[in-house]
Amino acid sequence: MPGAELAALAAELRARAELLDEGDWSAAPLPAAPAAPETPVTLESLAAEVSACRKCPLGATRIKPAFGVGSPKAEVMFIGEGPGYEEDRKGEPFVGKAGQLLDKILAAIGLSRESVYIANVVKCHPMLDPTQPDTRGNDRPPTAEEMAACRGYLEAQIALIRPRALVALGSTAAKCLLATEDGVGRLRGRWHDFSGTPLLVTYHPAALLRDETYKRPVWEDMKALKARLEEK
Ligand code: URA
Repeated sequence: MPGAELAALAAELRARAELLDEGDWSAAPLPAAPAAPETPVTLESLAAEVSACRKCPLGATRIKPAFGVGSPKAEVMFIGEGPGYEEDRKGEPFVGKAGQLLDKILAAIGLSRESVYIANVVKCHPMLDPTQPDTRGNDRPPTAEEMAACRGYLEAQIALIRPRALVALGSTAAKCLLATEDGVGRLRGRWHDFSGTPLLVTYHPAALLRDETYKRPVWEDMKALKARLEEK
């Protein structure tokens, strides 16, 4: 039995003995049996759980869950919205056009897919028409209910990886992590807090593909991230 549990049990027994001395032994509760040791949660066990997940309807219609990719010891975690067509096929976040742009953004500040950790607020592909997983252009943002159902997995990933910084890519991720209705324009350019971990919000790479004017603010955000990671 671990030391802390032994000490707690000893304290409980002492308290019972005192009650017995006072003759009020009927009120003394029985000490609880020590709990059976739990199997520790790992990224692998969490990924297996996600594979079987049916907490929301997305689990039944996706092809493969896109759990997360990168280093389990990453100093920074990038969080997007949800898997799209390409990610659903590969079972990996950010592998389509937006993902290729994210790779370039990472490279610009000396990072890579392998050195960071990349995940989404939902692990399964949200589709406009879930009966057509083989149709392109069938992606949609996750609903609030889908994000709430999946949130525990993201929180567990963050707790296991313990990154020094989080980056929310786009307003859906920001909304989920910061419980805000504000858009990226209002949220970017300063550090937020997610349960004790500094969090930066920037534009989603897919937004950059649509509108080049987002390039400069994203570059500024990435410089701020790099500076933060360089702090000892
Ligand atoms: N967009 C996202 O938000 N996540 C992905 O994994 C791919 C595209």
